[in-house]
Amino acid sequence: MPLPKAELHLHIEGTLEPELAFALAARNGVELPYADTDAIRAAYDFDDLQSFLNLYYELMAVLRTERDFADLADAYLARAAAQGVRHAEVFFDPQAHLARGVSMETVVEGLWRALGESETRHGVSTRLIMCFLRDESAESAMDTLMAAKPYLDRITGVGLDSAEVGHPPVKFREVYETAAALGLRRVAHAGEEGPPEYVTEALDVLGVERVDHGLRCLEDPALVARLVRDRIPLTVCPLSNVRLRAVPDLAAHPLPAMLDAGLLCTVNSDDPAYFGGYVDDNFRALNLPEERQRELARNSFLASFLEDDEEKRAR
Ligand code: HPA
Ligand code: ZN
Repeated sequence: MPLPKAELHLHIEGTLEPELAFALAARNGVELPYADTDAIRAAYDFDDLQSFLNLYYELMAVLRTERDFADLADAYLARAAAQGVRHAEVFFDPQAHLARGVSMETVVEGLWRALGESETRHGVSTRLIMCFLRDESAESAMDTLMAAKPYLDRITGVGLDSAEVGHPPVKFREVYETAAALGLRRVAHAGEEGPPEYVTEALDVLGVERVDHGLRCLEDPALVARLVRDRIPLTVCPLSNVRLRAVPDLAAHPLPAMLDAGLLCTVNSDDPAYFGGYVDDNFRALNLPEERQRELARNSFLASFLEDDEEKRAR
């Protein structure tokens, strides 16, 4: 039995398996530029973050209706439950859908159909985190936040994703200030491909409570010391790091060293359809001693946005 755990770094659009992509394409009359599922899988050969993002955004074209978003999320939750996930904090990228003429209502209500039933259907509690695309403008992010206002009872927090280098956190200072004033929790991708300064900036300027990836913090010992001292969680994604070439191979992954340094790391799948495995596959790929795996599972609940410590310990 896989260890009970929380998944805190998961892009719902990154759970789109080729079989579902073709089923939705057929249902919606969308033409995909791939002959079959093997042709899509053959495209999972990435050089870096951008080469992945190109395919990730391309395949989203099949997501059109509330039912599509509900089917996507329900398929993820079923797989996650089978891998021991008891709590999932799910990212979504509304700008990528709004740009295609799909409304915020369609996206949020569709996802909510599956997330709202997840506890009874799959035994997985959920939270929804809305991400801004950092390679789009700050104005677009602010417009997106405003468009989400009617749905804030469904949305726990905001995040920042997409192409990192050249798009420092400071660009989104006002958006994050507004999000905080609206009562939203704050996370951001930082230090995946971008420098350690982006991690520092995400903490200082955006006020994030958790850092997604954060790997490159290791280049700055003072930053590591701060993350340890302040118990700032890092949501690490080992298979993603290898597939996007942030790390040469799993044997060279710094996660064990990060735990040794006292960092509050968690293990997550990021975009499991694209990177070769769901969360327990990531756990197993690391080949860690049992005690280390238990530490990671414990960290995943501690780092979550579950309401209180009692709730976290009960998992
Ligand atoms: N990094 C940045 N943006 C993303 C990712 C990622 O790993 N996955 C989906 N959007
Ligand atoms: Zn990510």
